[in-house]
Amino acid sequence: MDLQYFPLPGAEIDEIDTPAIVIDLDVAEANILHLQAFGDAHGTAIRPHSKTHKSPVFARKQIEAGAIGICCAKVGEAEAMVAGGVKNILIPNQIVGATKIARLIALASEANIVVAVDDPDNVRQLSAAATRAGKEIGVIVEVNVGMNRCGTEPGEDTTALARVITDAPGLRFDGVMGYEGHTVAVRDEAERRANAGVAMSKLLEAVDNIEAAGMPVAVVSAAGSGTYNITGEMDRITDLQCGSYIFMDGDYMEVFDDFKPALTVLATVISRPTSDRAVLDTGMKAMSIDRGLPLVVGCPGAEFVKISEEHGIMAVEGEAQRLKVGDKVHLRPMHGDTTINLHTHYFGVRNGHLDSVIEIAGRGRFR
Ligand SMILES: Cc1ncc(COP(=O)(O)O)c(C=O)c1O
Repeated sequence: MDLQYFPLPGAEIDEIDTPAIVIDLDVAEANILHLQAFGDAHGTAIRPHSKTHKSPVFARKQIEAGAIGICCAKVGEAEAMVAGGVKNILIPNQIVGATKIARLIALASEANIVVAVDDPDNVRQLSAAATRAGKEIGVIVEVNVGMNRCGTEPGEDTTALARVITDAPGLRFDGVMGYEGHTVAVRDEAERRANAGVAMSKLLEAVDNIEAAGMPVAVVSAAGSGTYNITGEMDRITDLQCGSYIFMDGDYMEVFDDFKPALTVLATVISRPTSDRAVLDTGMKAMSIDRGLPLVVGCPGAEFVKISEEHGIMAVEGEAQRLKVGDKVHLRPMHGDTTINLHTHYFGVRNGHLDSVIEIAGRGRFR
């Protein structure tokens, strides 16, 4: 990779070539500490989801702060994290197919691996592969807590699947998970609390049923950033899988400001065709728009109004009409995770200066 155009540490932010993801490291580290302090105060472990940052550098910061390990969405993401020195991985997703299962089991030589399941045949395949390799991995049942994505229903099906895992050689039944993703971004706090409460009662019902059938449930893993202080207060929940909290994004900032925004995409004005239009070098290939157009930060009078592959169009009025070709503008994506996945590096800054360039080693590792 050609790194020649990267400025050296200490450079001014505006010297960073664009489009570039800029992370205020002090803010990200404060977010890490805030969640950890919450977990410590409530006796709930933190197991942050790396699908947001996709970088072992940030995973290690979370672990240094006290996290028990991390979650990874995919085997590829887990491989990037293990290569970067992370030793405790929970995959809160189903890993299906011989190729991926073989890679998952191979990771167990270097790290403690736990994976979610919701299907007995998948359990049998995991068991056969682990046994063949002479390895053991942890397995948890994903329970559908109302998001209606993956997961068994909390009754008989869940208990029966826990039994299949318990009886399967090469596998260790560790417990359950339930992701209340349909509740995490509910804007109204009382409504978010009520919805998350309903969701988690399904998970806790599953725990009671499995334990009544004689199988101890060690792990009860749940939560996204928006429910950290709801799900995280419940006695039987063992760990929180929050991801977005580390950087936040435009969408999550509409939910709450418990965590502060640490991420912007730096863009350059490349054209000023009219007094009320400024064109940026940042389009959909550098900025996801699945949750809406980005917000312009720190530039009153500028509004991001249109996007194409390589261009972003701003309507400018008042003070923002002073923008000229070559000026830099900070944008806050509405969805951080999908924007990060478009980039190869973070530009970590402190007090307005470049601190370090950090590889996004897990980007594109969706297999
Ligand atoms: C299984 C699972 N757990 C946790 C999270 C973390 O959610 P958030 O980004 O809201 O913190 C996600 C997000 O997609 C998820 O899919």
